[in-house]
Amino acid sequence: MPPSLVTIERHIIEQQKEYPQATGEFSALLYDIAFAAKLIAREVNKAGLVDILGFTGEENVQGEQVAKLDEFANDIIFKALDHTGRLCCMASEEVKDIIPIPEQFKCGKYVLLYDPLDGSSNIDANVSIGTIFSIHRKISSGERGTLEDCLQPGYKQVAAGYVIYGSSTMLVYTAGNGVFGFTLDPSVGEFLLSHDHIQIPKKGSIYSVNEGNYFKWDENVRRYIDYVKTPDKASGRPYKSRYIGSLVADFHRNLLYGGIFLYPADKSNPNGKLRLLYEANPLAFIVEQAGGYASDGRQRILDIVPTELHQRTPLFIGSYDDVKQVEAFIQGQVE
Ligand code: AHG
Ligand code: MN
Ligand code: MN
Repeated sequence: MPPSLVTIERHIIEQQKEYPQATGEFSALLYDIAFAAKLIAREVNKAGLVDILGFTGEENVQGEQVAKLDEFANDIIFKALDHTGRLCCMASEEVKDIIPIPEQFKCGKYVLLYDPLDGSSNIDANVSIGTIFSIHRKISSGERGTLEDCLQPGYKQVAAGYVIYGSSTMLVYTAGNGVFGFTLDPSVGEFLLSHDHIQIPKKGSIYSVNEGNYFKWDENVRRYIDYVKTPDKASGRPYKSRYIGSLVADFHRNLLYGGIFLYPADKSNPNGKLRLLYEANPLAFIVEQAGGYASDGRQRILDIVPTELHQRTPLFIGSYDDVKQVEAFIQGQVE
């Protein structure tokens, strides 16, 4: 078998042919993100070799320690995209306010929201980490982007994706027409199509949650976790437990194998831990495009209207039947 010869560039161009009204600007934007991803992958790969490991000693807006690679990834994405004329503003998990496009550059019609490095507590242990991104259309009327452009509900996303820096580097994205995965061939520096039209199994057999929080959850969540562990051949229980602690990596595995990832609200995090704009929304768009579902326990993630940039949300995401079932538990509909 010859190797896959569909580069991400070719794929994007071919997809674009199906939309005669497309200007090419959006395709170029995805390509710019893929370029930034290659630069981050390069740094991640050499992180064990050079003095880039460890913490900077500063805290980010979420009050968490900032690792050096977080800063690097944050800056690279900004610098790869600030001058392109395709974005009107950006927002990052690592930056308190919206990130304007520098005065000297033209503004474009898209908004980019991103988690530059997800799973950063795993960097020093050589465990998979990732980058997550979400793209919206500009809706404000002025020339430059505003907060209003960033605070749009997830169902309005025009594209979303993630990069996983694992045993190989992969980029997975959707532009609302299916989910596609590309694997980086480092010898030629190209992302090649490796996963065409990804579909998540309707029901899985994996649950992924930080179970150390068990006694901080409310009773319905605890009952659901007890349920998936209770043996019952007919419904495929007990489920397997798999938890890496890098959302991208946990999500990616469940997307391919089927399963559910949970980060519920708990006593220390009454709104959950994960961020709606940089983590929950982009992955929710991808999972729905792959036939799955994402919920905050009460409603569809993509329907939430954000009120702040760094808003958090409980997250239940993965195989359709599993997420619907956890919703029923949370809403007290299961005895
Ligand atoms: P980030 O590294 O971007 O701050 O995200 C960390 C997140 C996510 O990747 C993961 O699912 C979760 O934190 C793990 O949290 P716990 O350590 O509380 O399980
Ligand atoms: Mn994250
Ligand atoms: Mn992060």
